[in-house]
Amino acid sequence: MTPDPGPLDGLTFRRWMAHWATGVSVVTAREFETDAGLTVNALLSVSLAPPSLLVSLSRDADTTPIIERSGRFAVSFLAFDQRPVSERFARTISSGEKFRDLPFHRGPNGLVLLDGALGGAECRVVSKTPAYDHLLILGEVVHLESGREVEPLLFHRSGYSEAVGNDTVRLPKRP
Ligand SMILES: Cc1cc2nc3c(=O)[nH]c(=O)nc-3n(C[C@H](O)[C@H](O)[C@H](O)COP(=O)(O)O)c2cc1C
Repeated sequence: MTPDPGPLDGLTFRRWMAHWATGVSVVTAREFETDAGLTVNALLSVSLAPPSLLVSLSRDADTTPIIERSGRFAVSFLAFDQRPVSERFARTISSGEKFRDLPFHRGPNGLVLLDGALGGAECRVVSKTPAYDHLLILGEVVHLESGREVEPLLFHRSGYSEAVGNDTVRLPKRP
């Protein structure tokens, strides 16, 4: 492995993390009858008993304080053909624009779960841990559902996988 020269700044770290391939999810929340949501790939399952999930959310994201206050969030795992959804939820735009003409349904707790996703979950926040410019939000899963049995949307080298035919995805090309 080649040691990376240069200072350990955020940009260097972001480029290095680009080697780590992930799935892509949309995390949604709701407060005062208004939905919010953002694209998230910093997500991990933490425990099985009880089932719990952790997401790392920027303090700057509009959705983060809504989750902090409402104590709930939902997760939808995106499928290979939901790249436009990921791109939409990665922009700081109004709630109206984020959810306009978007096919979704609500879980038993009233949170948005995206139609066409691979799976969805609703969580109750059990802890919020400050982590520099992010907040680590641990949620106990209170509702789970399975979605389409198709290929996932993947994120690698700062780009998205592409569909190749009906049942194969290709990772972003090497620069
Ligand atoms: C593939 C991808 C993954 C992302 N993962 C995260 C993440 O894990 N945590 C985070 O806070 N932001 C993440 N973002 C950035 C947010 O989606 C983005 O800042 C969004 O505009 C926040 O929306 P909001 O301010 O309306 O809540 C990601 C963006 C992309 C494209």
